[in-house]
Amino acid sequence: MSSIVLKNGKFVLLEKVFAGDLLIVDESIYKIGKGLKGDEEMDLEGKYVLPGLIDAHVHFREPGAGEKEDWYTGSCAAAAGGVTTVLEMPNTNPPTITKKLLDEKRKKYASKSVVDYGFHFGASTGNMDELRKIDRIASVKFYMGSTTGSLLVESDSILLDELHMLYGRDILATVHAEDERIITEQTKKLKATGRTDASAYAESRPNKAAAEAVKKIISFSLKAKNRLHICHITTQEELALLSKNRKDLQVSVEASPHHLFLTEDDFERLGSLAKTNPPLRSKKDQAALWAAVKDGTVDIIATDHAPHTLESKKRDIWAAPAGVPGLETMLPLLLNEVNKKTLTLNQVIHLTSENPSRMFGIRNKGRIKAGYDADLVVVDMDLEKKVDNEKLFTKCGWSPFAGWKLKGWPVKTFVRGRLVYDNGKIIKTKGKEVSYV
Ligand code: DOR
Ligand code: ZN
Ligand code: ZN
Repeated sequence: MSSIVLKNGKFVLLEKVFAGDLLIVDESIYKIGKGLKGDEEMDLEGKYVLPGLIDAHVHFREPGAGEKEDWYTGSCAAAAGGVTTVLEMPNTNPPTITKKLLDEKRKKYASKSVVDYGFHFGASTGNMDELRKIDRIASVKFYMGSTTGSLLVESDSILLDELHMLYGRDILATVHAEDERIITEQTKKLKATGRTDASAYAESRPNKAAAEAVKKIISFSLKAKNRLHICHITTQEELALLSKNRKDLQVSVEASPHHLFLTEDDFERLGSLAKTNPPLRSKKDQAALWAAVKDGTVDIIATDHAPHTLESKKRDIWAAPAGVPGLETMLPLLLNEVNKKTLTLNQVIHLTSENPSRMFGIRNKGRIKAGYDADLVVVDMDLEKKVDNEKLFTKCGWSPFAGWKLKGWPVKTFVRGRLVYDNGKIIKTKGKEVSYV
């Protein structure tokens, strides 16, 4: 047995902040208290300590596009961003839609991770048998509109059958909710106008596309009774639908940093770099999303870390791939808000660790409490610096927030008691797959 005491920390607990020490024994939090002793000691000099973030929505690119992000670089970006657990999406090439491909991902790729991890499994139009077989997953992911990769479930009857099956197996359904029919129609129209500006792309995936898909998945989930998680909501329309139906559904809701911190006003500056699915929205939608974060309608914030090379992003708006990286900037962006007093640290930990752990049923993670995994992030609330592309660990090497000056940064990240990130340096360790309650 080995033990280490983190001395003089300010530990952010669910409802309060505790100033004192934390004793880690082996991989777990053993005790929080004052005057604790251990084999080793580390003085935190009064810095705040948060539970390591659980990012429920990341895209790493293996197999298929390891040149954009592999499991090692992606997980380094996570560690540097204070993220100690990632749940990875299935839209790789090939996509994770069979048990065999999932096991291959586990063995060949995710084994390189320096942080802990879990997997979302992909629903396709022909993999009902696979959905019957799989286990130890965070959720089954449905793409209702097409995006990076080939995954898409367009058929209503298959969608409903698959939701029924998930209900039977008590597996969570996670959804990318954009209506494929609207997207196809609008894309055709807009391309025909010859427009190649970033707003034209956004117009091809209007608010209505998101709202129609959310309306459908809510009505189907009411029928099938499955548990539902809606990824990256962006519009006032989706929020209105949720407030109408929430009491009858087991539903959780996610928002992504790029939709909270960027809007369509950034299209001119960022061009194709700002191309994401769903697209950046108006200032009004952004304000509604923030209000939903603050009133608890939004359960979790997750990055939707979607790395693409700069070279591919610099293509014209229709040809460039959709997505932005986010693992290294989510926490600093949120801590900067805490410094501006628009959020509290307690709100941040609910949105980024406590709630994701609960929504996805992750065992022993997401909270600073005796018995939990010692997944911790030490943050320096006074450190002010600019987001610098040169310093990023993501293989894609850029951020839509490059040049933003932010106050409040992670400085040390622990995964199960082991220091994996220390002031700009990765200390290589071995992440492991999470287990579920
Ligand atoms: O912008 C996006 N990028 N949205 C998605 O749904 C997928 C993601 C990706 O994997 O690139
Ligand atoms: Zn998505
Ligand atoms: Zn995504």
